[in-house]
Amino acid sequence: MYPLRVFFAASLLAALEVAGKAFPFESIQLTQADTQHFPAIEFGNRETAPPWTNPTPRCRAWPGSPGWPCETEWRQLNISLEGALLRPLPPASACYEGDSYNETTCRWLVEESRRTHFWIDDPLSTLTQWPQGGTCRLAIDAEGTCTRGGFPEYVVNATTVKQIQTAVNFARNKNLRLVIKNTGHDFGGRSMGAGSLSIWVHNLKDFEFIPEYTIGPYSGMAVRVGAGVESWDQFNHMATNNISVVAPGGPTVGAVGGWIAVAGHGSLTSKYGLGADQVLSINIVMADGRFLTVDPNHHQDLWWALRGGGPSTFGVITSVILKAYPPITTTSVILSFSVNPFLNSTTPPQDPNSLTDLTSFWRGVSLSYHYCPKIIAVGGYCFSYITPLGNSSFSFTSSQIIPNITVPAYRTLLQPLYTQLNTLHNIPVSLPTTGITPTLYAGNGSRTGAGDFPVNTRYRSRLFPAYLWQNATAWEEVFAAIRAGVEEGGYTFHGIAYSPTAEVAGWPGADSAVNPAWRETALHGSLMDVQPEGITAEEVRAKDERVQGYVARWQKLMPGVGAYMNEGDPAEKEWQWRFYGAGYRRLVRIKREWDPWGVFWARTTVGSEGWEVVTADGYPMGQNGRLCRVEGGA
Ligand SMILES: Cc1cc2nc3c(=O)[nH]c(=O)nc-3n(C[C@H](O)[C@H](O)[C@H](O)COP(=O)(O)OP(=O)(O)OC[C@H]3O[C@@H](n4cnc5c(N)ncnc54)[C@H](O)[C@@H]3O)c2cc1C
Ligand SMILES: *[C@@H]1O[C@H](CO)[C@@H](O)[C@H](O)[C@H]1NC(C)=O
Ligand SMILES: *[C@@H]1O[C@H](CO)[C@@H](O)[C@H](O)[C@H]1NC(C)=O
Ligand SMILES: *[C@@H]1O[C@H](CO)[C@@H](O)[C@H](O)[C@H]1NC(C)=O
Ligand SMILES: *[C@@H]1O[C@H](CO)[C@@H](O)[C@H](O)[C@H]1NC(C)=O
Ligand SMILES: *[C@@H]1O[C@H](CO)[C@@H](O)[C@H](O)[C@H]1NC(C)=O
Ligand SMILES: *[C@@H]1O[C@H](CO)[C@@H](O)[C@H](O)[C@H]1NC(C)=O
Ligand SMILES: *[C@@H]1O[C@H](CO)[C@@H](O)[C@H](O)[C@H]1NC(C)=O
Ligand SMILES: *[C@@H]1O[C@H](CO)[C@@H](O)[C@H](O)[C@H]1NC(C)=O
Ligand SMILES: *[C@@H]1O[C@H](CO)[C@@H](O)[C@H](O)[C@H]1NC(C)=O
Repeated sequence: MYPLRVFFAASLLAALEVAGKAFPFESIQLTQADTQHFPAIEFGNRETAPPWTNPTPRCRAWPGSPGWPCETEWRQLNISLEGALLRPLPPASACYEGDSYNETTCRWLVEESRRTHFWIDDPLSTLTQWPQGGTCRLAIDAEGTCTRGGFPEYVVNATTVKQIQTAVNFARNKNLRLVIKNTGHDFGGRSMGAGSLSIWVHNLKDFEFIPEYTIGPYSGMAVRVGAGVESWDQFNHMATNNISVVAPGGPTVGAVGGWIAVAGHGSLTSKYGLGADQVLSINIVMADGRFLTVDPNHHQDLWWALRGGGPSTFGVITSVILKAYPPITTTSVILSFSVNPFLNSTTPPQDPNSLTDLTSFWRGVSLSYHYCPKIIAVGGYCFSYITPLGNSSFSFTSSQIIPNITVPAYRTLLQPLYTQLNTLHNIPVSLPTTGITPTLYAGNGSRTGAGDFPVNTRYRSRLFPAYLWQNATAWEEVFAAIRAGVEEGGYTFHGIAYSPTAEVAGWPGADSAVNPAWRETALHGSLMDVQPEGITAEEVRAKDERVQGYVARWQKLMPGVGAYMNEGDPAEKEWQWRFYGAGYRRLVRIKREWDPWGVFWARTTVGSEGWEVVTADGYPMGQNGRLCRVEGGA
């Protein structure tokens, strides 16, 4: 009697626990019965999967080739998906002669769409376009033809777990290339792929505030967040619920997707840690089609790997539970100055803080970066750009953002920096006497004017170790190398100073697959470049080599330094080491165990070295080609 009661109580509890851990869209799941009449969507069996190193199939199926599903199968898939299968055309097809030509639409795309969220809401478009291959460029009266290029063939507009399971099973059983797209912010073409089936998680917008959540030693507020929630949505939810959650700075970046999968920084990173450090539980559809809850008590290897071990690698995340905190304010002031050595009476200064002396300018910039640990020490961060303006002119723009600080305390902390800039380097900046106000972190939930539209920014970055700030000589050398990248190289330097140490990350954040370089860093520094569409493979290689030369100068001064994959370069050499650190081998073991088929593939993700996109023109890092195994690859 007694054991039975215990059994009932335990199973009731388990049932409650599961129910409480899923959104309604997650309880709509694929069953064996659903797959009976359509073997193409049967679940996979990891035990009978071919070995990882199996050389066949050599390539993923390709539209028009034998092995590509026939029309009937796509129709049947669409029925299993309850009509959620899309076959969208690239938006710019409206600019090209043919069935889709529409001058009004084309003009709107060219002239107006930047002021809207059209591109974020489009099932194909991504913000970084060059990997697509430039096969359908946006232009009024465009010449030539428009083809899909690196964009997927079909898209599943997912609103249930069942649809995601169906899509994963179909892709695996049919040897299709599978991609996952959320917002399309990825800088490395990881949310697109030619000839692929794409799972679009953008519409999984569910959100729930959990006033009390207990797991392991954590007991406190939490939020459950659907995979399609964007940062601006998250800020709105914070305001509604009078809480704070660590979220990305860019308003339309996914609050879950690639941001959490790699690390994820934001303005509370020195205080509460990275995005990945906030995670308490993860719901995910795995490569075999099964839906799992992964947390500190379930599937511990995956639990470690899913936080920092990379996007689109182990499965499709449908929701996560994140830590939540009481509401908090942040205080910041913009500190900027510039230099124009040719400034004289015939060219009056446009910037009141403009200098003519390059040495003073660079010393002032160095001093400003060197000051950041004082800001980090109170949980804040420095956000900055050094921008070349041409003709040996440069600007430095920064803000020092500190959470939960009074205005007098902020002034006391920052004044010595301003005084040193004035007295040591003659830089006429002053801390404003009015207008400094703490603002509610949760207050900015506006998507209006986010202005996210396709651009072609390319980052090369390093996580500068904190020890450099302890050694004046080492800092001087490193800063000289940063200066060279801007002054000689002509690149913009983007520096964000913060320290998400293991101590800040706490439990369970400190024990995860996040690149260990994050725990030792005080600055995420990048050289920003633009890769226009339409340049040749040769030109791309030359550009790559040039910028890599400047990054190599930093690297020489910081042996073993790591980098942030989300704002790093897909052409990074030794990316396994730079992006993942010493945990890479363990990650590969977990990848092979959970995805022996290699269903999930994206460039520079764990295990991706075994496959490559074969582009027609050998365009480096492009997505416009078939995905095939590397000859003799891992
Ligand atoms: C304008 C802008 C601002 C940015 N600001 C910040 C910032 O403040 N802080 C910061 O850390 N980074 C920032 N980034 C970088 C950002 O973290 C990355 O671009 C990140 O990959 C975006 O993830 P996403 O899911 O929104 O985008 P996507 O491009 O849709 O996806 C990125 C990767 O994640 C995978 N993925 C997405 N959803 C899932 C899922 N549910 N399950 C499994 N895999 C998934 C995709 O397949 C892809 O590989 C910014 C980027 C841009 C363009
Ligand atoms: C899938 O079915 C829906 C509903 O019937 C339809 O609107 C849609 O066009 C179909 N998708 C494809 C790719 O045919
Ligand atoms: C072109 O697009 C506009 C705006 O979507 C639409 O109103 C119009 O009917 C379209 N024109 C044609 C010829 O399809
Ligand atoms: C995707 O699905 C959502 C929810 O059903 C719907 O509102 C949206 O219009 C769909 N998007 C496209 C491009 O079909
Ligand atoms: C918001 O939360 C804070 C502390 O958690 C509390 O002091 C404040 O009264 C709350 N505000 C509202 C409007 O509920
Ligand atoms: C003033 O600046 C202009 C343009 O930068 C330059 O051509 C000129 O030589 C300068 N004049 C003097 C007196 O330095
Ligand atoms: C650089 O100087 C030249 C000559 O004075 C001038 O024509 C040009 O506009 C300047 N360029 C920039 C970017 O200021
Ligand atoms: C904010 O600062 C006050 C005063 O220093 C402190 O008591 C409080 O705990 C801080 N709140 C947070 C969320 O750090
Ligand atoms: C909200 O964020 C946007 C974009 O980051 C910014 O331009 C705007 O000034 C912010 N508004 C407020 C009220 O902070
Ligand atoms: C400081 O850095 C310099 C230059 O990199 C190095 O030679 C020196 O050993 C370092 N000093 C200490 C105490 O680490």
